[in-house]
Amino acid sequence: MIDIINIRKYFPILNATVYGNPLIYLDNAATTQKPECVIQTIDELYRTGNANIHRGVHFLSEQCTEKYEQAREKIRQFINAEKTSEIIFTSGTTGSINTVASSFGERFVSAGDEIIVSEMEHHSNIVPWQLLCERKGATVKIIPFDDKGVLRIDLLDALISERTKIIAVTHASNVLGTINPVKEIIAKAHLHNIPVLVDGAQAVPHGIVDVSDLDCDFYTFSGHKIYAPTGIGILYGKEKLLEQMPPYQGGGDMISTVTFDKTTYAQLPLKFEAGTLNFIDAIALGAAIDYVNNIGRQNIIEYENKLLDYATQKMSSVEGLKIYGEANDKVAIVSFLLKDIHHLDTGMILDKKGIAVRTGTLCTEPLLAHFDKTGMVRASFAFYNTFDEIDILCENLEKILLMFK
Ligand code: ALA
Repeated sequence: MIDIINIRKYFPILNATVYGNPLIYLDNAATTQKPECVIQTIDELYRTGNANIHRGVHFLSEQCTEKYEQAREKIRQFINAEKTSEIIFTSGTTGSINTVASSFGERFVSAGDEIIVSEMEHHSNIVPWQLLCERKGATVKIIPFDDKGVLRIDLLDALISERTKIIAVTHASNVLGTINPVKEIIAKAHLHNIPVLVDGAQAVPHGIVDVSDLDCDFYTFSGHKIYAPTGIGILYGKEKLLEQMPPYQGGGDMISTVTFDKTTYAQLPLKFEAGTLNFIDAIALGAAIDYVNNIGRQNIIEYENKLLDYATQKMSSVEGLKIYGEANDKVAIVSFLLKDIHHLDTGMILDKKGIAVRTGTLCTEPLLAHFDKTGMVRASFAFYNTFDEIDILCENLEKILLMFK
């Protein structure tokens, strides 16, 4: 069960007012708000515990290192990876995907090769592959989706060729909310020995991820979308692949020895963690994971599904409102347009009522092009949102319709 009153008290910003109205924060797919335990972890570490990790023999350095490595272990358990050596701290999903595109691409992709992504990817799971293809003379191929926002995986077999080097696909769409059948995609890809990267940025916050069950080769997500700070994220990779890949960046901590003749690299995961990482926020990510575990992933899934069903039903009854993304299996994201009212007008009027939604291209121009749109409005929910907030959103959408009549 979700104890909504106590949960909301635990997120200080949810008491804020915007233009004199209570904040209704429905932009959780862009970033989530932070619970007390995350704020306190950062505050306490900077007040009493800060020292660089993996580098000192002094007390604070060793203590910070231990907490950092404990956070890695928490994340391993959370995503059900086999080994902590497979958990790499990065700056976020974008940093994780760029690491794979660059390092895996350097080792395994050559001229004439192909990379498959889907039509519903966030730009961060398109552009790094395009950059790689430009460097290597490879090409990107696309798995399309249908008008309900369901991926056409029936077309995947025809897209796969002997030149396919990797498939990169989102677990859940940041616009359509669609939860993709990634396990099935991975099984198909593995029949051809093709590795699969899964962008989990929008799936992990909603409680879904088990990398061992999926058998994915890479999995990426961002801390700030799961109640942790910005600037920290995770790249999971299977050890046997990470071992074969060159370091992404050079610097301190990622080496074994350095001479001007030859440098050797650290063991995993440090091989991919050059320089001073964002270790305080990595520890705070561990605190966020503890918090999510305490709430209970099943409780989160059940409550957010109820919010999604309620929002879908209520918003659909607003005259002229069209929802984009009608898959059966969705995370709590509802993207929409109100008749022909510009998405920015809708977003700006809602803002004046204290309602925060996202507007614009949502970092998915190819997805919008599918619907011949240049922007949408998106309401995205977290387990601290309420049914009353959805009612207030819908009342205000009705008012906007009257204003534009
Ligand atoms: N990727 C984030 C979003 O979908 C920023 O809003």
